[in-house]
Amino acid sequence: MGAFDTKRFAVIADIHGNCDALSAVMADIAGQGIKGVVNLGDHFSGPLAASETADLLMAKDFVSIKGNHDRWLLEKPVSQMWRSDQLAIAQLSENHLEWLEKLPATTKLGDQVFACHGTPNDDNTYWLEALAGNGQIGLRPQDQIAQFAKGIEATLILCAHTHIPRRVDLPSGPTILNPGSVGCPAYDDTEPEAHIVQAATPTASYALVEHGPLGWITCHRNIPYDAARMIEMARAAGAEDWAQALSTGWFKAA
Ligand SMILES: [Fe+2]
Repeated sequence: MGAFDTKRFAVIADIHGNCDALSAVMADIAGQGIKGVVNLGDHFSGPLAASETADLLMAKDFVSIKGNHDRWLLEKPVSQMWRSDQLAIAQLSENHLEWLEKLPATTKLGDQVFACHGTPNDDNTYWLEALAGNGQIGLRPQDQIAQFAKGIEATLILCAHTHIPRRVDLPSGPTILNPGSVGCPAYDDTEPEAHIVQAATPTASYALVEHGPLGWITCHRNIPYDAARMIEMARAAGAEDWAQALSTGWFKAA
């Protein structure tokens, strides 16, 4: 890998097998003249193109980490996996899983940037959002957000997992940035209680980051792309909820 510019790069996350969204995002990143990409995990899980996504990612020198679904693909017997993980692993070959196995859970870029999937210690915890009591999620209280950042030496922390693009600046630092999801704009989950998450846009979401004179300049970019092939794959797998999410960005129960 060439030298990674830790002062100017792109952040992608939660591709979830949507290689057409990933291609659109990669084209947009190239169009911005950005070379370095940090990829925060949950690369494959879902009814879409896990294998094609793996081939695409393996051909790139992105700095990638594992998400909770990536860990589950490696750890769980297939019979105990969520359906979305079962659909992904059915497509993945041994070399895809070997690539996945080698990824760390967290990483540092230079001395100012820390990257994780959920929180520094847990890939399956929402950092910037919490259950809002209405079956959806909203901004997590500031003291709780700060608690998760304790002990992390960084001025910029990257996180993912909730699929919601958001920047939070804690009053005495750091900046915490979630780029949103490249490939899955809405989903439901049963844990820790039933809720839905929806970006309310079907566009592929990612972020650009640049170290400016007075702090981190960040830019959320939402890229329209042709999702027809991915929607067809979701329908072919019987995942109407995914098809709806990819079409609209809103969650509709299957
Ligand atoms: Fe995740």
